[in-house]
Amino acid sequence: MHKHNLQPKHELVYLTEDASHDGVIELINAEAFGPGRHARAAARIREQGPHDRSLSFVCTDDGETIASVRMTPVLAGGVKGHLLGPLAVRPSHKNQGIGRELVRIAIEAARRKGSEAVILVGDPPYYCPLGFEKVAYNALEFPGPVDPARVLVVPIAEDVHSRLKGTIGWRD
Ligand SMILES: CC(C)(COP(=O)(O)OP(=O)(O)OC[C@H]1O[C@@H](n2cnc3c(N)ncnc32)[C@H](O)[C@@H]1OP(=O)(O)O)[C@@H](O)C(=O)NCCC(=O)NCCS
Repeated sequence: MHKHNLQPKHELVYLTEDASHDGVIELINAEAFGPGRHARAAARIREQGPHDRSLSFVCTDDGETIASVRMTPVLAGGVKGHLLGPLAVRPSHKNQGIGRELVRIAIEAARRKGSEAVILVGDPPYYCPLGFEKVAYNALEFPGPVDPARVLVVPIAEDVHSRLKGTIGWRD
């Protein structure tokens, strides 16, 4: 039998990100979002400081990294939370629940770490079934233009919605 026939066809494993994943994550994000990705308002926050690897995850299929989610610590008005993103799944692996599982794992990890909220800019039809709610229109000021209808939050602490007022930026 040929060696590759012995390999399982789909062996999905979810791992905490480490530095060895950086190169392939860059490729996955370039493929998913294209060259304009660095101009997005959420990307500008991520340029302000490093993401938190302990809350960032990859999915591997038979050892090959095929999806990634990152989390960056932010102060959003009065809320010490995390910005979720980028989330990207390679086209070959879409619609298998991998994106949804990465979001679930990242939220759970943030909760365990004491984060007050998980915030992102994304499509409500995808994220609202995963526990996200709309942030009040223009309550958060991003370092660049965002569509206010796409600013979403999973509240973890008390009174998150009332405290999500002001600027959002990277925090230590
Ligand atoms: C969006 C993305 C992360 C979803 O990951 P995935 O593993 O394919 O998604 P899942 O398998 O968890 O969920 C698939 C479901 O979400 C739906 N979906 C995917 N993108 C969606 C969107 N933008 N809006 C609404 N629904 C969406 C699919 O139609 C599918 O629905 P179904 O279960 O009823 O068939 C992935 O397609 C991707 O990397 N896209 C390009 C980058 C991107 O847009 N990232 C999100 C940034 S906001």
